[in-house]
Amino acid sequence: MMMIKKNKMFLLFTIVTQIHYSLAILDPADFLALQSIRKSLQDTPGSNYFSSWDFTGDPCNFAGVFCSGDKVVSLNLGDPRAGASGLSGQLDPAIGKLTNLTEFTIVPGRVSGELPATLSELKNLRFVGISRNFISGEIPATLGQLVKLRTVDLSYNQLTGNVPWGVGSLPELTNVVLCHNRLTGSLPAFVSQTLVRLDLKHNNFSGDIPPGFLPPSLQYLSLSKNRFTGSVEFLLPQLNRLNYLDLSSNRFTGPIPGSVFGFQITNLLLDRNLFTGLVQPFDEVAIQTVDLSHNMFYGEVSSLFSSVQNLYLNNNKFSGSVPTVLMDRVKAGNVQLLYLQHNFLTDVPIKPTEVIPVSSLLCLQYNCMVVPVQTPCPVESGMQKTRPTSQCVQWKGSRN
Ligand SMILES: *[C@@H]1O[C@H](CO)[C@@H](O)[C@H](O)[C@H]1NC(C)=O
Ligand SMILES: *[C@@H]1O[C@H](CO)[C@@H](O)[C@H](O)[C@H]1NC(C)=O
Repeated sequence: MMMIKKNKMFLLFTIVTQIHYSLAILDPADFLALQSIRKSLQDTPGSNYFSSWDFTGDPCNFAGVFCSGDKVVSLNLGDPRAGASGLSGQLDPAIGKLTNLTEFTIVPGRVSGELPATLSELKNLRFVGISRNFISGEIPATLGQLVKLRTVDLSYNQLTGNVPWGVGSLPELTNVVLCHNRLTGSLPAFVSQTLVRLDLKHNNFSGDIPPGFLPPSLQYLSLSKNRFTGSVEFLLPQLNRLNYLDLSSNRFTGPIPGSVFGFQITNLLLDRNLFTGLVQPFDEVAIQTVDLSHNMFYGEVSSLFSSVQNLYLNNNKFSGSVPTVLMDRVKAGNVQLLYLQHNFLTDVPIKPTEVIPVSSLLCLQYNCMVVPVQTPCPVESGMQKTRPTSQCVQWKGSRN
């Protein structure tokens, strides 16, 4: 078996050298690695990716294989066209023999099993993307040896265990996308000063994130749907280049620093945590969607929120009167959504006869006042229009 293949390679070598003397033939180590990789993966029904993988021909012409000189430098497994159903099988440890690989991807499909520890031999690897498959087991700690690694996308798999500390220490990381796995433990410190995207939503991470653990280069940060704890009061002000921030559905505590509301951001999602304190922006807030709902924020609603298009302040402990400037923007149709239900508000400057524009949603239910007028509220806010007076005594008292 081996002999025949070697002979074929030799024959190919002779032909190629006759055509152009300097044209190199694929390194035998790479050739054998591709054969092993091929053997452990299959097209799923509907995918026809491997039809071009005929080892009697030059592997550098195979779909998804790109060579430089005699080495494979890029391997994109599977047909990337939308609708192609991807591959099944497992990833062979022989991948580690493709020593000059800089880019390695597998299209969404049904590839299962663990990531081979031999990935650590791919010292030139800059880009790894194996999203939406059935990869399980832990992220190999040896991934932390790939010092040129920039993009790691292992999202939508079944990975368990921690993010190895070595991965956080990689100096050139730009994109880390590990969302929708089953990862646990606390985060390592990310040291790369070029990290722009960190997406860890929908895992089972826990623990605090100390100030300094995330670099100021970050532009996109999603930690949503984990079990992170502790304060972000000193972490967030360092991340002033963020344009997307989602910390929703965690167990973060403590206050939100006012500077966060000045970020050049379109979405600020801090809902469903244990945040407390006053909410005090320094300036007019220019963020499209601000969601602070389901926390324990208190004090008065700031009038600096009047330019926000979608403002969720519901299910907190806000008290006092809703600012007139905010209600004026609602009446003018400039605010698309204002959710204030389930707080301890005592007054809202709108009359029962006033009309809320059809394009706007306003919910005021379950506060310490009679609701003059509102649009339909979300089902979860219940049927009860006003909070029981017994719960409102302290708030009324504190105003005097
Ligand atoms: C493969 O990588 C090594 C360094 O890791 C480099 O010296 C060599 O030139 C590369 N070969 C090709 C064909 O790119
Ligand atoms: C998350 O981890 C905890 C234990 O640390 C476990 O009890 C829980 O079931 C896990 N949740 C998920 C969704 O895996």
